[in-house]
Amino acid sequence: MINKQYILGLLTVLLFASCSNDEKVVFINADEDGGTGNPNPITQTLKEKAKFKVGAAVKMKDLQGEANYKNAVIKHYNQITAEFEMKMASIWSSSTAYNFTAADYLVGFAKDNNMEVHGHTLVWYDSFPEWFKNAKYDSIAFESKVKIYITDVVGRYKGRVKSWDVVNEVFADGGALRNETVIKPIFNDPIGFYGRCFKYAKAADPEAKLFYNDYSVVLDGGKRAAIKKMVTRFKANGIPIDGVGDQFHYATDTNRQTMKTGFTDMASTGLLIHISELDIKVNTAKSDSYVFTDAEAQKQAETYKYITTMYEELPQTQKFAISTWGVTDKYTWLTGFWHSKEYPLLLDADYNKKPAYQGFLDGLK
Ligand code: XIL
Repeated sequence: MINKQYILGLLTVLLFASCSNDEKVVFINADEDGGTGNPNPITQTLKEKAKFKVGAAVKMKDLQGEANYKNAVIKHYNQITAEFEMKMASIWSSSTAYNFTAADYLVGFAKDNNMEVHGHTLVWYDSFPEWFKNAKYDSIAFESKVKIYITDVVGRYKGRVKSWDVVNEVFADGGALRNETVIKPIFNDPIGFYGRCFKYAKAADPEAKLFYNDYSVVLDGGKRAAIKKMVTRFKANGIPIDGVGDQFHYATDTNRQTMKTGFTDMASTGLLIHISELDIKVNTAKSDSYVFTDAEAQKQAETYKYITTMYEELPQTQKFAISTWGVTDKYTWLTGFWHSKEYPLLLDADYNKKPAYQGFLDGLK
C-alpha cells in the first residue's frame, strides 16, 4: 500500500527539483492559499497585511468555550466588537442595575491580546430594555436616563473602548425616519436628540471616535442622502461625529457599481469610514438544496476582494476599520436571520481560511 507520507515526500522532491536555486519553494495547502489555487499565496494574516484595523464581532461564550475560536480571533484580527453583549438591552438589566460581566470580559480579552474594541451600540431603537420601554418616559425623562446610561458606559470604558457606534439605524429604506415605536413617537426632533447623544458620549470620553452606523448606506441613495443631511447638520451645530459605518451585510450578487458609487458618495462626508458588520451571503435564493461549491466560494472571494480594493481607494485619513460580523461560518447570525445554509464569513466551520480570506487579502494594498 502506498502511504500518504510517501506521496507527500515524493511531491516535495518534485517541487524542489522543478525550482531553480534562487526560486523560493512555496508549499501550498488549503490553509495557506485559502483554496484559491494561487501559486504565490500570501501567508500573512488579515491583521498583518492591513494598514487599518480588521475586526470581528465576537461573543464571550465562544471565546470562553472554544479554544479554536479564541485562537482564530487572536491570530487573524486586531479589533473586536461585541455581537450583542454591549448593546443597551444586555447591559442595562434594570432601572437600578447594570450587567457588565460580558462587556468587561471582552474589553479585558482585547487588552490582553493587544486588540482594539469598537463599542456597539449606545442608542438603537431595537435594543432598549423592556423595563425601559414599559416605563413610558416623556422626552425629558427619557433623555436624562439615556444621558446617564451613555455617561456611565462610555465613562467605564474610557480609553479602553476606542470607538463607539453612538447611534444605530435611524433611517428607513428610502431615507425617511424609521417608523420605530421607541424614540420617534416621543421626540419632536429625534435627530436633535441623537446629536445630543454624541455630545454625551464625547463628554464621557473625549478621545473615543464616535460613529453613526446603518445598513444599506452605499446601496440606498435616499437613505444616504438623509445620513449626509444629518451629518451636515451635526457639523454645523458642533456635534462631535467622527465617522459613519455601513454594516455591509451584502451578497455575492450585490451590484458592485452601485456599491462603489455609493461608497464614494458616503466618503464625500470626509468622515472616517467603517465597514462595520461585513458578511457576504452566498445562498441568495434561500434555497434548501443550496451547496457551497468551489465556484460559489470563488464568487464570494471576488466579492470580498472587490470590497477591500474599494476600501483601499479611500483617502488614507478616512480609513478606520473593516469589521466582519463574526469569525467562522460555524456561528453566524445569518443562519437564523437568513437561511440555515449560509456561509458568509472568512473562515469555514473548521477555522480554515476560505477563498474569501484570500480575496480579502488580495484587495489590500
Ligand atoms: C444582531 C446579532 O448578530 C444577533 O446575535 C443579535 O441577536 C441581533 O443583532 N445590525 C446590527 C447588529 O447593527 O447589531 C445586528 O446584530 C445585525 C444587524
